[in-house]
Amino acid sequence: MKFFVDTADVKDIRELNDLGLLDGVTTNPSLILKSGGSIAEVTKEICSIVQGPVSAEVVAVEYKEMMREADFLSKIADNVCIKLPLTLDGLKACKDLTSSGRLVNVTLCFSANQALLAAKAGASFISPFIGRVDDIGLDGMELIQEIRQIYDNYDFNTEILAASIRTVNHVKQAALIGADVVTAPPATLKALVKHPLTDKGLETFLADWEKTGQKIG
Ligand code: E4P
Repeated sequence: MKFFVDTADVKDIRELNDLGLLDGVTTNPSLILKSGGSIAEVTKEICSIVQGPVSAEVVAVEYKEMMREADFLSKIADNVCIKLPLTLDGLKACKDLTSSGRLVNVTLCFSANQALLAAKAGASFISPFIGRVDDIGLDGMELIQEIRQIYDNYDFNTEILAASIRTVNHVKQAALIGADVVTAPPATLKALVKHPLTDKGLETFLADWEKTGQKIG
């Protein structure tokens, strides 16, 4: 499973990348707003840190303008992945961009049928929003499961990018189902390492080691 971080915070991205944990980054207009920087500058800096795909989202809703924005974003760096909304215009832009060799992440996916359309449009990634589905009382993981089955039925190459991740349990469940990628906030990715028995065990080993009076090396 690939790990993407869902943030435009360069400090967090650098830290996770240095840990060797990052396969890519996803941003969106809300995350760019939070970063306080311009989309061009922030995306350029992120692309210089991370080798994998960095999703940068268009904000146009009409095909022609989407393509113009996609062209601008594509020129920022080779690893920019164009993020498009799951609309008819977005799917048309997806088909054209992937046909010309661009990476495309189709975002705001909330149903299996939407994911089917994105795969038919040649999307590199489909982003089902687990947390937001849970928020309205439905089951985000069921959506991932359905998409996995449909993509496997027809051998689609589109990668399932589990998004809107809120908990470490979301990560585990997405991995069990077989999502190809998970994108999570920095805190959630770092929380994956935590276990109270690891902390307790380490504390005991260090205390016992202290009693031996030895040093290694
Ligand atoms: C995915 O690409 C989105 O940026 C993100 O996962 C949305 O998550 P949210 O529902 O926590 O805003």
